[in-house]
Amino acid sequence: MRTDTGQIINLADYRPTDFVLERVDLTFDLHPTETKVEARLIFHRREGVDANAPLVLDGDELVLSGLLLDQSELPAGQYDATPEGLTVRNLPESAPFELTITTVINPEANTQLMGLYRTGGIYCTQCEAEGFRRITYFPDRPDVLAPYTVNIIAEKEANPLLLSNGNFLGGAGYGEGKHFAAWFDPHPKPSYLFALVAGDLGVVEDTFTTSSGREVALKIYVEHGKEPRATYAMDALKRSMKWDEERFGREYDLDIFMIVAVSDFNMGAMENKGLNVFNDKYVLADPETATDADYANIEAIIAHEYFHNWTGNRITCRDWFQLCLKEGLTVYRDHEFSADQRSRPVKRIAEVRHLKSEQFPEDGGPLAHPVRPTTYREINNFYTTTVYEKGSEVTRMIATLLGRDLFKKGMDLYFDRHDGQAVTIEDFVSCFEDVSGRDLTQFSLWYHQAGTPLVTASGAYDANAKTFTLSLEQMVPATPGQTVKKPMHIPLRLGLLAEDGGPITPASVTGAELTDDVLHLTKKAQTVTFHGIPSRPVLSLNRSFSTPINLQFSQSTEDLALIARYETDHFARWQALIDLGLPNLLQAARDARQGADITCGSAFTDALLAAAADESLEPAFRAQALALPSESDIARELGGNNDPDAIHAARQTIIKRIAEAGKDVFTVLYDGMQTPGPFSPDAASAGRRALRNAALGYLSQLDETPARTKAAYDAANNMTDLSAALTILAQRFPDTAETAAALAHFRDRFADNALVIDKWFAIQAAIPGAVALERIRLLMETPLFKRTNPNRVRSLIGTFVFANPTGFGRADGAGYNFLADEILEIDQRNPQLAARILTSMRSWRLLEPVRADHARSALTRIERAAGLSTDVRDIVERILK
Ligand code: ARG
Ligand code: ZN
Repeated sequence: MRTDTGQIINLADYRPTDFVLERVDLTFDLHPTETKVEARLIFHRREGVDANAPLVLDGDELVLSGLLLDQSELPAGQYDATPEGLTVRNLPESAPFELTITTVINPEANTQLMGLYRTGGIYCTQCEAEGFRRITYFPDRPDVLAPYTVNIIAEKEANPLLLSNGNFLGGAGYGEGKHFAAWFDPHPKPSYLFALVAGDLGVVEDTFTTSSGREVALKIYVEHGKEPRATYAMDALKRSMKWDEERFGREYDLDIFMIVAVSDFNMGAMENKGLNVFNDKYVLADPETATDADYANIEAIIAHEYFHNWTGNRITCRDWFQLCLKEGLTVYRDHEFSADQRSRPVKRIAEVRHLKSEQFPEDGGPLAHPVRPTTYREINNFYTTTVYEKGSEVTRMIATLLGRDLFKKGMDLYFDRHDGQAVTIEDFVSCFEDVSGRDLTQFSLWYHQAGTPLVTASGAYDANAKTFTLSLEQMVPATPGQTVKKPMHIPLRLGLLAEDGGPITPASVTGAELTDDVLHLTKKAQTVTFHGIPSRPVLSLNRSFSTPINLQFSQSTEDLALIARYETDHFARWQALIDLGLPNLLQAARDARQGADITCGSAFTDALLAAAADESLEPAFRAQALALPSESDIARELGGNNDPDAIHAARQTIIKRIAEAGKDVFTVLYDGMQTPGPFSPDAASAGRRALRNAALGYLSQLDETPARTKAAYDAANNMTDLSAALTILAQRFPDTAETAAALAHFRDRFADNALVIDKWFAIQAAIPGAVALERIRLLMETPLFKRTNPNRVRSLIGTFVFANPTGFGRADGAGYNFLADEILEIDQRNPQLAARILTSMRSWRLLEPVRADHARSALTRIERAAGLSTDVRDIVERILK
């Protein structure tokens, strides 16, 4: 393992390499423990670079076993090789030269799953961000682009399949039971997009004809026997390819596109050129084993990785500070794809829920960083919701500011101008400035200033003047390393509603630019007047969540109820329901902490139940409305001195009140929202299931026994309904024989399907209460739990620390201590995974003092441990600072 070196990388230090890489020719002689890698690299010295400058290549845990310069041995004094790098001196002044580097690596021993490793008996690679340097010495940075030829030699019987990027050149026998294959990728690419897969896998095949009539072979490789579970992924892939042609004019550019599903993977998936590698969780699905959420995730991630072919691969990042250039943009693209494939407002609600529950706490805590950071210690720790999700929101805002047509023009210009290049956020933004004539300097602060802006709004109607005056003020909170902030350019979509719910169109607006329904807030404080307003308007602000801010705007319950009922923007309806409910939840949490009685206003329950019962609304929307903010959401909104037990008690009490008030509504929904016919994963059917299961959840609150939920479990004929019923049993009736029996049944039925067993782990890991920790420890002892598999660790330990606030945050601090032990253990093997799980502590300062003390000691124990990885050291130090 690479332990911390304390080195900090700064954006300001960027400079191009001294040597230009012209071509890469790799030969792998695969072996589980001794794979020989021969890299032939052709370089020339960049013009203007000092003739004495040495070539410095990156390495990570490498051992050099051979080095040739233009086919000749080098004298010992001409180079230095360490595990972390190779330096070669006295190189030709301007002529190209060839360096042949031989390394021997051990895929079997590679437990951090970066570089070349083994999973499920196959060879596979993960190189983003800095994994290629674990394969060979290389200028392992995204601005070094070259065409690659890859030759793979391996035992034929164990590895009938030999895959790499680009197009297949050919293959043949290679003596002694071996064979080889050669691949050529004509598109110059950075090393992080390199991939190699070898082994024995099953395949699902199809073809796609591009808009210009080229036929592309599509192949999805999975473990033998799992082929039927890859058909939905194939369908999603074809829809993605078509959509990218229609919406962005992007055509695929190789003869073949391959996806390989592997069971040990640190992240969701990876966009290697022509050879995506996926966590099998995001490929495999059938009705019996996958939930509607799984289907939606597969569709989104297949699309995301495919879309990277243009946003990431054809145009890549100059350096890792620009990560949002490809990730934020590609998330925006996959969000738009899903919105087009499903329901746009429901998709937006899900995005905003995710943004608020994951990115807002990051932006408001010790790990806050700009979308485009300027410094890092470990780049793996910057694959964050800020870079991805806030980065997507920033792209969405550009589209909002420019409008659909100009945004499209800007994207076209970007593809045109920068194809084949490694570029920066500034390059990206310039394209939109150039097509629109708009100055985006102030807007660009979204990339550079961390922290979620707080916008405070208040409105006043003047019946005589027929004007509505809106006062807006913005404040960007201080974040680590950034104490003083400038006012941002905040695009607020809005609507004015009359008392009967109809729209009011102002005659004119002064005090701010208003384009269509977008108001531009650009100053610290701004007063905007809407003229020609015949009656008191109800203001719907930040429609469709046009800007990722915290909004402080006190509206009466009547106004919120009016928005919830009449807004044409359905996202705003959902937001109004949240705004009606949240004050009740927050007050209940404060009351619970004081030991006072908990109450819940009927305006909220009335509006919520009206939405739930409203047949003109799509079921998926109604299900979203019924899902209250989570305990962590409530904790974030409370903002300090948080007691997870009080929050849990408060939320449960309110759920019960809603159940009591809505008994009839929920009974009708539970009986009426069946999905007849064979299972279909389409969005409408999924919405019906979601609404019916939400109704079951509320009804179970009124039930004295698990009978109804157990019956639902027994009747379920798909994984969505089965896991929903099991979740309700576990949450509502944890200590009953029925729940125990259902859990045992579920385990036995799916014992041979690790992805389903992950659901079994997660459902149990989320059961609230102080005893949760003992349950986790017992589950870790079951043979189904595999510490070496990231999905297992995330399902059991990850769910516990991220999604079980009362269990993990029990008052005696045992949960935090458990986390410390686990982090230290996991870090030995897989630093990336350890660091990711440790981010569950990012909001520890918001805890009440007793828990906060326990949390601090646990974190300090991690910080003081010997031999920490850079990944974990970076996170723990930032969290404690
Ligand atoms: N680029 C991948 C994606 O599409 C993520 C890879 C992240 N890898 C890592 N080691 N941090 O989102
Ligand atoms: Zn991505």
